[in-house]
This record gives sequence, structure tokens and C-alpha cells, in this order.
Amino acid sequence: MIIGGKLGDLKGMRSFVGVLITQALMLFVVLGVGLFIFWFPNFESSQSRYSSIFGVFLIAFASALVFLMIWTLLIKFTEEWWSIIAVDRVSKWMIIPLYAAIGVAFLACIWSLLAVVKSGDESFTSTYNPIIPSLAVVLTTGIPLAASSFLTLLGVKRILTLKKNMRLFESSVSNTESEGLSRIRASINAEKGIGSTFARPEPKGFYFAGLTSKPWYESEELEWIAEFEDSFDDILAEATAIMSNLGDDIENYGYQGLNTESWKKVSLVANREENQENLAACPVTASLLKKIPGYPIFRDAMFSILEPGGVITPHRDYGNLFLTMHFGLIIPPSGYMEVANMQRNWQAGKALVFDSSYNHQAVNDSDQSRVILLVDFLNPDMSDQERQWVLDAPFWKA
Ligand SMILES: [Fe+2]
Repeated sequence: MIIGGKLGDLKGMRSFVGVLITQALMLFVVLGVGLFIFWFPNFESSQSRYSSIFGVFLIAFASALVFLMIWTLLIKFTEEWWSIIAVDRVSKWMIIPLYAAIGVAFLACIWSLLAVVKSGDESFTSTYNPIIPSLAVVLTTGIPLAASSFLTLLGVKRILTLKKNMRLFESSVSNTESEGLSRIRASINAEKGIGSTFARPEPKGFYFAGLTSKPWYESEELEWIAEFEDSFDDILAEATAIMSNLGDDIENYGYQGLNTESWKKVSLVANREENQENLAACPVTASLLKKIPGYPIFRDAMFSILEPGGVITPHRDYGNLFLTMHFGLIIPPSGYMEVANMQRNWQAGKALVFDSSYNHQAVNDSDQSRVILLVDFLNPDMSDQERQWVLDAPFWKA
């Protein structure tokens, strides 16, 4: 993977600043219109004046409410974009002023509505003092406006710092293509928003605490893989035979995140249930699978066929209990697996091993089918006792 292109979205930082600027502009308009109505009242009746005042407070109330909802949703991402300090900052400087603004705008709405109703009452309207509603407008819009302007400035400063850092990082790897630096390139690209897969660990479902977390494993880290590599010819022969026997009966994998129905499978084990018929048809493969610690606690063991042009779009699998092995059987000249923004190519007779709780995608951009033996096996960090717990768990889905 080569570093290139312009600076991307910097992990959504620009959207974050975009929301802040939109909020500041909107509140600025409400503030301007509000103050204009209070200080230059040229209405024929006091009722129309109070109706306009009510309108201003209603807009201020609604906009504060909308932005509170937006920030409540964004606060989780704020941490990703901008660290935990930002969550603290946004909570203090944005959420609290918005709650205050909502409270004041709500009271002001009630007050102005009362004024509309009582506009014929001379004793009420004679007490009207534009300072009070003006102060309310400043409180309801001015405080969140000041907060969003402050945070916008910090956001812009952060973007400039990130850009500067990225330029320095880029220049440090720009004159080498060394494979040994591929993780550094992947990190810089992820930071810049380049690449299809999100680079940070984030399992979708049950998170098993304390397991090693890394996107790619080397096959030497799992001693049983060597036997698969030694038996490549036999596994390939069994896969070819069972696929030609099944012909059109080969199942669709039925996965949603596909560009077409291009992912097919010949299942050997699915959700720890052995497919006795298919295992019997592939004795060498079956005997090798049985040597994987934890057998048959697999999510899937299957011959996985990705047809020409097939793309399994970026996604994370459920939980982090399993690692995935792709053992290359029939491999076209192009196509790749991408995990956490790092690409590796399938090779016939070689295994790729990755943690599918990281964002990953598979691309077959060739005009031939790609066939692998796919096995989701228990993370080797799990102890025998923990494996037994998984086996005995009354219900689990992974
Ligand atoms: Fe997956």
C-alpha cells in the first residue's frame, strides 16, 4: 500500500467542525433576528409583537433541542476523532449550555405565550421591558453560540495540528517501499481517511476481555497451520471434487454485505455443528480440522468461493472469540483481503490469519473464482477452561 492522495477527512474531524460551524451560524441568525425584533419593535399591535417574540423563542428552543440531540449522538464519535478530553470538553461546554438554553427558552416561550394571550391587558403590557426578553435571547442563543465558536476554534486548531503531523509522518516514510513499514503506512492512511477498512479494533458484539488484539497473525504463530500447508494437494483435490459433485447445489453464503450473490460455500462445520456428509467426503481436510485446538467450536469451516467481481464489503464480525484462517486453494492473479486498512494477498497453499472483529473486506477483482478453506477457530489466547466455557455456554452466537 502506498501513501498518496490528499489529506482525507481526518477521521471525521471535518464533519465535527462542520456541525459546530452550522450550529454557530444558525444560532447567530436566531440571535440577530431576536435582538432586532426586541430593539426595533414597529408592530401595529402588541399582540403581533409578542407573537414574533414567541416565534423567536420557539426557534431558539427548537434549535437548542436539535443540537442537543445531535451532540448526544456525536459524543461517542468525538472520542474517536478527538480523544477523551474532547468528550469532557463537549460535555461541559456544549451539553450543559444547551440544557441551560433549552430551560431558558422554554420559560421564555411560556412568558411570551402568556403575553400574546394578555396583550389586550394594559397593566400587563405596560410592564414590558425589552431588556428582559433580550437577555433571554442572549442566554438561549448566545451561550451555545459562544460554546460552539470556542469549540470550532479548537477543532480547526486540531485539524491544523493533525495535518502538520501527517505531513511529518508522511515525509518519514515517503522514500521507502519497505514491507516492514506497511503497518506505519496503514496507520497514516487510516488517519488521513484513506482506505476502505476502519483501522481500530471494535468488535460488533460480545467482547471477550483480555485477548490479544491485532488485525493480522503470521501463520508461524499457529503451529497446526504447517500441516495444512504440507497437505495442500490433498485439500485442493478434496475441494475440487466436492465442488464438482455438488455443482449447482453449492449454497449461497447469504451474506447481506455483498455487491452480488457472489459468495458461495461448501460447509464442513457451521456454528460448531459438524456437517457429517461433507466431512466424510473430505477425509484429509476433516482430519486436519480436528487438530485445531477447540474443534469443533468453530463459527465456520468451509470451502469459500468468491466469484469473479465479488466484493464482501467492509464489516466487522460478531465478537472477538474467533480468528479466521483463509487457506488459499484456487487463487486468481488479483484480489485481496483487507483488515484494519492493511491488505494481504491470498496465495495457493499459504494461510492468511486475521481477527475479523476488525473491520475487513474481501475483494476478487479478477475474472476467475477464488476458492479458499475458511476456518473461524477460537482465539489461541483462550485457556482450556475458557474453551470449555464456550462449549458449555447454553446459548452463544459468534
Ligand atoms: Fe467477515
